[in-house]
Amino acid sequence: MGLLLKVFIPLLGLVLAYYFYSAPANFHEEMLRGKRVIVTGASSGIGEQMAYHLARMEAHLLLTARREAKLQKVVERCLELGAASARYVSGSMEDTTLPEVVVKEAENTWGGLDMLILNHIGHSYFNYFNGDVGHVRKLLETNFLSYVAMTTYALPMLKESEGSIVVVSSMAGKTGAPLLAPYSATKFALDGFFSSLRNEFTMDKVNVSITVCVLGYINTENAVRVISHVIHGKPSPKEECALEIIKSGALRQREVHYPPWEVRGMLLLRAISPELLDSLIRSNYNVENIRRT
Ligand SMILES: NC(=O)c1ccc[n+]([C@@H]2O[C@H](COP(=O)([O-])OP(=O)(O)OC[C@H]3O[C@@H](n4cnc5c(N)ncnc54)[C@H](OP(=O)(O)O)[C@@H]3O)[C@@H](O)[C@H]2O)c1
Repeated sequence: MGLLLKVFIPLLGLVLAYYFYSAPANFHEEMLRGKRVIVTGASSGIGEQMAYHLARMEAHLLLTARREAKLQKVVERCLELGAASARYVSGSMEDTTLPEVVVKEAENTWGGLDMLILNHIGHSYFNYFNGDVGHVRKLLETNFLSYVAMTTYALPMLKESEGSIVVVSSMAGKTGAPLLAPYSATKFALDGFFSSLRNEFTMDKVNVSITVCVLGYINTENAVRVISHVIHGKPSPKEECALEIIKSGALRQREVHYPPWEVRGMLLLRAISPELLDSLIRSNYNVENIRRT
């Protein structure tokens, strides 16, 4: 009975989850043609790559991040690549007024919205938790509460268009990865909030899809700079990651796992033996390269 509960049931659950999460490959780029899409954190990394893919698919784009000069360049490139239109709003998501400003810009420009891609993250450290509660509070504002606020303001338009919300999260939002306590907390919060909201939408017959993206290590400049001296293993390409996120949002999938086998393997292990997963994660860290701050 113990073995049944500990191994067989989680295994069965994961096989079923894998089956349902792996939507049939029926994605067509035309699904995004003419769609009105907001991408946050679009000045670099995965967000920038998502903007380029969406531009090639001829979507209308509204991009946001803090660095205006970088956003201007991304918008220019999007227009060259074929975006139906592209514009930006610059500002920090630490500013609690920004989510409404961004969503209002979409409303005033397009009169509606089809997809909201929430991807930005504020700066955090990759080190042992340093006891700075103020930092955790600030990071929750940027990485979590601004996602809630953007969703709240955008919801009337998304209900109208029967659109999609895409929430970019991490394996650190499914299991407590060391040296990332504040970041990990914000990603767990996203999973809790948006999974609950998805259930409410179903109960309430609201036809707005919510896709949570569970990502492993991706080769963005910032991620590689911050963690490559500690983590073993090769990061996966940001271009492919960005495309998988867009596909899963367009297909209205519940979750996307990227890179698929690595993330699914970790989720399976978490269900069967969380202690073993923790110890494997720890063994993947070069702790001698960490200088405590
Ligand atoms: N790369 C990975 O290994 C990895 C792994 C798992 C999950 N993810 C997730 O993937 C997403 C993208 O990650 P990434 O590696 O592409 O990150 P990134 O390259 O560091 O990009 C972060 C984006 O957020 C913006 N940003 C930073 N602070 C902000 C603030 N206070 N207000 C508004 N925007 C702000 C940045 O632009 P500005 O500086 O111009 O504001 C940038 O556009 C994140 O949600 C991350 O958690 C990444």
